[in-house]
Amino acid sequence: MASTKPKPNADLADPAQFTPETGLKPAEYRQVAEALGPVLADSYQLFIKTQGVHWNISGANFFGLHKLTEAQYQDLYAAIDEIAERIRSLGEPAPATYRAYGEMSNIRDEETRTAPMDQVRTLIRDNGTICKTLRAAIKTSDEMNDVVTVDMLTARLARHEQNGWMLRMSASDA
Ligand SMILES: [Fe+2]
Repeated sequence: MASTKPKPNADLADPAQFTPETGLKPAEYRQVAEALGPVLADSYQLFIKTQGVHWNISGANFFGLHKLTEAQYQDLYAAIDEIAERIRSLGEPAPATYRAYGEMSNIRDEETRTAPMDQVRTLIRDNGTICKTLRAAIKTSDEMNDVVTVDMLTARLARHEQNGWMLRMSASDA
């Protein structure tokens, strides 16, 4: 008796190689994915540096800065996954090597075991740097009509502006 199992339709794309049919054109979502690379790289770099300060900070405000940097690196850890998965939703490969992050990041890879106030100043500067990377990526995403990425990145921008404020207040002598 002949099998009644339906044959795969040759006209349908291999699901693993799909092209997203979301209304964005390939040239548009590829540009958005490209703009997300530096956001992912900056987020990874800032994650590592923020965790480094969490470990190595000392001084009068140790406990406050230890807890603040813990909240900030945990938020970054979740954001890294969200940003990478956005790149995948757009059909592009997510960069996942330290070399790629080093090449794409606007945030310097540097020693954070410095004087306590310099550690905090480094994070204040780097939160400002990622804000600029985010604004550039938001501009590109907006120009490509990718409102989902604009929405995600706008929330990230608000978070890094707030991180900068909290670090500045924690570092003040008042
Ligand atoms: Fe910890």
